[in-house]
Amino acid sequence: MRIRFVTSNRNKFQEAEKIGGAYGIELEWIEREYLEPQGSDLEKVARMSAEMLAEKINPPFFIEDSGLFIDALNGFPGVYSSYVFKTIGNMGILKLMEGVERREASFVCVVAYHDGEQVKTFRGVVKGSISSEIRGDYGFGYDPIFEVNGRTFAEMGEEKNMHSHRRIALERFFSWLAKSF
Ligand code: IMP
Repeated sequence: MRIRFVTSNRNKFQEAEKIGGAYGIELEWIEREYLEPQGSDLEKVARMSAEMLAEKINPPFFIEDSGLFIDALNGFPGVYSSYVFKTIGNMGILKLMEGVERREASFVCVVAYHDGEQVKTFRGVVKGSISSEIRGDYGFGYDPIFEVNGRTFAEMGEEKNMHSHRRIALERFFSWLAKSF
């Protein structure tokens, strides 16, 4: 089965492509940037983005929206993760977390699949913590400051794909897809 993934992020596509392979699902990359609607809930943002995109791209396709939620910052940057990354980046987050002992954080991924009639969403969450310094050479975005079991995603390389929020959300989506066809 072949399915289209709309994203401007090459890293996301490559991660999803590998996970799809395990389910016999081949992904086609529609490289496209789109404006994300504002909202306080990742699931709503993903659903609305898919609905808006369906006016320009013929379904079926899926998108995904991810966010980093830091417990001590009451879930910040959350739905604003992309803007915060562009503005203050990993160094800015580490600065905000200076002297903060509670380091727990979650990475959340919501996949939104548009089948032509409706949008179905699949959520994946991984719990981890914010490191005290930037570590690792792989991955993208917040990977160098997000730790699971003492190692950052950027230190894990390929292994990130075994534990990530994206992995969990995509596995849910792909197994649902495999059952539905
Ligand atoms: P997006 O809106 O889903 O593209 O992601 C929000 C922000 O989180 C962007 O700055 C991404 O670079 C970052 N991000 C998304 N997924 C990941 C990930 O798997 N690891 C690290 N950062 C990520």
